[in-house]
Order: sequence, then structure tokens, then C-alpha cells
Amino acid sequence: MLFFIDTANLDQIREAAALGILDGVTTNPSLMAKEGITGEANVLKHYRDICEIVGEDRDVSAEVIATDFKGMVEEGKRLAELHENIVVKVPMTPDGVKAIAHFTEIGIRTNCTLVFSAGQAILAAKAGATYLSPFVGRVDDITWDGIALIKEISEIYDMQAYETAILAASIRTPLHIVQAAKAGADVVTCPLPAIMGLFKHPLTDIGLAQFLADHKKANG
Ligand code: G3P
Repeated sequence: MLFFIDTANLDQIREAAALGILDGVTTNPSLMAKEGITGEANVLKHYRDICEIVGEDRDVSAEVIATDFKGMVEEGKRLAELHENIVVKVPMTPDGVKAIAHFTEIGIRTNCTLVFSAGQAILAAKAGATYLSPFVGRVDDITWDGIALIKEISEIYDMQAYETAILAASIRTPLHIVQAAKAGADVVTCPLPAIMGLFKHPLTDIGLAQFLADHKKANG
């Protein structure tokens, strides 16, 4: 399973990249706004900066703001031209699916976002989306089961031999990451605290303290 970080914060992207386990970055308009990145020129520069931080062969999802087919195609092409890492993120709407099918035809990679059902997952796969982003946490928020959705889509994609990669998004906790892996996600995109939470285990801390104490006792 690939690990992406879900943020537009450059320091957090650097911190995750320094761990040596980062495969990519996802952003969305809310995350860009949170960092105070406004205006097209600044947004494009920020995407370029993210691509430079993560280095070669790492995917960086950049979301279109346009909601009509023509606008999405124009904006997506501008984003794709920015850097070879860019994957164009497109919402799950009829125009979005049409744009994904067009991008597939011309060789631009896509991430279909705002996915909340298996039916939507089938549409995105048919259009040839590179990635599919089901929003685990937001499904949980309405007391449905986000991880069950990942499992359902994974079963369908395996059965139908769809090549679209399942990118579990709206991940909120370290447990979500483990559950997404078990449910068949190909990629998980998470905030930095959820990634760092995976490290935590009291027996690791106790064991390390014991090893160091024994070493000190023996070596002075
Ligand atoms: O990748 C989508 C993600 O950013 C949404 O997360 O926590 O706002 O539901 P959240």
C-alpha cells in the first residue's frame, strides 16, 4: 500500500518525506485555503514547490476548481503541464467523469474525488481514473461505515479487473490506516498526525529504555 500525505503544508510534507516512506501528496481547495494560498499564480507555484519537495516518481494530486467539462479540461491541462508528478483531481460528477475519460484518452493521470458509493467507484473506473478517492472519515461522520465502503469497492475492482487504484481518503486516525490496508486500499492518504500515530506503542518505549539501561550498566 502506498502512503500519501493529505496536506498542502510544506513543513509537514518535508517532515513526512524525511521519514523515507512517502509516496505522494494529495491536496484539495480547502487544504490550499488553510495554508493561505490564493490566486492562480500562487496556487500553481505551491504545487510546483510540493512536487520539488517530494522528488521524482511521487504523485501530487492537484484539484480543479472548474465544475464544467470544458473548464475542467482546460484547468487540468494547465495543472498537468506544471510538473510530471501532477495528477489532476476531478470531482465525481457527470462532467467530472467525462473529463476523466478525456484525460485518460490524452494520457493525463487523474484522481476522482468526493466518492461515497460503490456505484460512483464503478463510473470512475470505467472512465479510466488512475486513482479513486472514497472519503472514509466523512462516511463514518454520518454513521455509515467508511472502511466497509473500501472493502466493497476493492471486491468489485478485483472481480471486474478494473485498474483504477483505490486511494482511501478522509483518513483521520492510525486505526483507519490499518483498517484501510486490511480492506484492500492500494493507497492511503492521511494527515501527518495519523501517520506519526502508527509509530506509537508503549512496549517499544519500554523495550528501548530497558535496552539502553542494560547497555549503560554493562558499559559504564
Ligand atoms: O482527501 C480528502 C480529505 O482531505 C478530506 O478529509 O478530514 O476533511 O474529511 P476530511
